[in-house]
Parts: sequence; C-alpha cells; structure tokens
Amino acid sequence: MSRAAAALLALLACLAGAAGAATGRSPLGTVTARMAPVKPICAYPPSNSPTTAVAYGNAVTSRAKHPYATIPWWVRSDGTWFMCGATLVSSRIVITAAHCLDDSWGAPTHVTIGMLSWSDSAGTYQKIAVQSATRHPSYNPNTLDNDIAIIVLKSAANITKNAPAVLPAANLSLEKKKLVVAGYGTTEDGAVARVLKEASLPYINKNTCKTNARTTYYLNIPVTDRMMCAGGAKTTSGTAYYDACPGDSGGPLIYQASSTAAKQLVGVVSWGLDLPCGQSPFGAYSDLRTLKKWVCCKVRRLLTAGACRDVPTTTTC
Ligand SMILES: *[C@@H]1O[C@H](CO)[C@@H](O)[C@H](O)[C@H]1NC(C)=O
Ligand SMILES: *[C@@H]1O[C@H](CO)[C@@H](O)[C@H](O)[C@H]1NC(C)=O
Repeated sequence: MSRAAAALLALLACLAGAAGAATGRSPLGTVTARMAPVKPICAYPPSNSPTTAVAYGNAVTSRAKHPYATIPWWVRSDGTWFMCGATLVSSRIVITAAHCLDDSWGAPTHVTIGMLSWSDSAGTYQKIAVQSATRHPSYNPNTLDNDIAIIVLKSAANITKNAPAVLPAANLSLEKKKLVVAGYGTTEDGAVARVLKEASLPYINKNTCKTNARTTYYLNIPVTDRMMCAGGAKTTSGTAYYDACPGDSGGPLIYQASSTAAKQLVGVVSWGLDLPCGQSPFGAYSDLRTLKKWVCCKVRRLLTAGACRDVPTTTTC
C-alpha cells in the first residue's frame, strides 16, 4: 500500500471514530458531553481550513486583547492525546470539566497556556506539567452534575504573560448579561478548528432553562443548580445558534462587567443537546457560582488572596 493510501485509511478511520457522538432516539431528548471528538491523527485534517470554531465564532487573533486565552490542550500520560479546554485561575491552578478526566482518557500530563493557533511556535505559549488532577467528588458521569475538575500545575505559570480569570462571587447575577465562550473544538462545518475561537452568548435564566429542559426538550438529565445555560442567540442567517461545540469541553465561559473589568470564569463548557454543532438552542455549563465552594475548599491557598472571601473556611470538600 502506498503511503498516501495508508494515510487516507488512517484518516478515514479517525474521522469515523470522531463521528461517533452520543446517540439517542429523539435528538431533543438526549444530551451529549462536549468531549473531544478527536484523537491526534484528526488534528490536522489535510484539506481542511475551517474559518470559524465554537459554532459561528470569531477567531481570537490578538494576545493583547485576550490575555485570558488560556485554553490548554492537554496530554494523556500514555502518550496518546486528546483535547479539552481549561482556564487558568491562578499561577498554579487550572479549571476544566470533570468529564475531561473520565477514566477512558487517562490523566493529563501537561497544559499549554495562551496558544491561539496550533501553528504557534513553542516560545509563544507556556507548556507546564501537571502535578495533580482532581474531579469533583460528586461528579456524576451519567447526569454530568458537578462537571468540574481542578488541575494543579507543577510549576507556576507566568501570569504577567497570561492573566488568570477570577472566580465569580456566589451571588453574582448574570440575568440579561452577555457571556463569551472560547474553544478549539469543532465548528458548524463539523471540522476541528486550529485557531482559538470565541462567541458571545446570552445568559439564560436558570429556572427557564430547567423548565425548558424538562417540558420542551424532554431531556434525559435535569439541569441542576450546579449548571447554567447560555446560548439561543440566532446567527445572522437565522438558521443556527452561536454555541460551544464538541471539543470545547472544559473551556471557559467568561463574564466581564465592562471592557476594563476582570474576566470572571462563570462557567465551564459541559454539554449540549445531541444535535449538530450550532443547532442546539442552548449549551449547559458548570456554574462556578455554586461550584467555587469546592474549588476554594480544595485549593484556597493557591488562589489569589480574596478569591474565596465569600466562601467560609469551614466549608468541607
Ligand atoms: C513573564 O512574562 C512577562 C511578559 O511577557 C515577561 O516580561 C517576564 O520576563 C516573564 N517572567 C518570567 C519569569 O519569565
Ligand atoms: C453579594 O454578597 C456580598 C457579600 O459577600 C455583598 O457585599 C453584596 O452586596 C452581595 N451582592 C448582591 C447583588 O447581593
């Protein structure tokens, strides 16, 4: 067999695997974690140069504009790798989704911070080894409740180069606010983006989202207090939605009160309806307002002073 033929077969096998998203009888009744759909061989599809990632998003092109762009690709300990988003919240702490650490994927060995494009040269981003990765003890892989994990880095990231996001106050109101999601995942054309993408999404009232999940979408899992919903804004064509997509899991949902205010990590990309990228009328995110108690309890001393002001030191984890 020629090299080209072997490469093509490998690519086809890879893409077939990638297409194996969650199944279900009713597309609206089932949800799917926004887990990485690809293994490394899929990472550089030879004839594919998508222009947008996060459905209908814009490329994040400026490091100056996006110092929080800490969307690491992390690596399995056995050498085969996959991707998930994550967010730096202090020099040693990275937050991601618990389902990014599902046993079948193996443990992450390192994170990269501040990579805006897969073709960035090594000196432009930070690559730091992982000391430990811990899932929330009440994480439920079937319902994706408590879908959050903490990665402790072996050495400190340079936070002058890549500013960490801050944790939100437990009582922060996001009603009628615009949030920003970012990721390297798949795009509306089903391909993997090779540049970091972002899109602006409206927050969806939690009770509205809970009710719709039950009565409009008949979802097989409930929207819980540890989740929040965002999305539902139609694209200019009116036929799709701005949204996170498979491969964006673990990545940030950011709220910024004004252009000079701190970027707050309010959500972590978790799941969406089992529909093609850009067709889900909302996305679900782990809600840091309720989950920061656990983060603070685990790593308070590694967070910025004051980050856990509103979380009692007596909180147990
Ligand atoms: C951290 O990054 C800043 C900004 O890029 C740079 O000036 C500084 O030298 C870096 N510090 C270290 C210890 O590498
Ligand atoms: C949120 O809680 C803080 C105390 O932790 C309080 O000072 C602030 O007024 C509260 N904000 C709202 C909107 O309730």
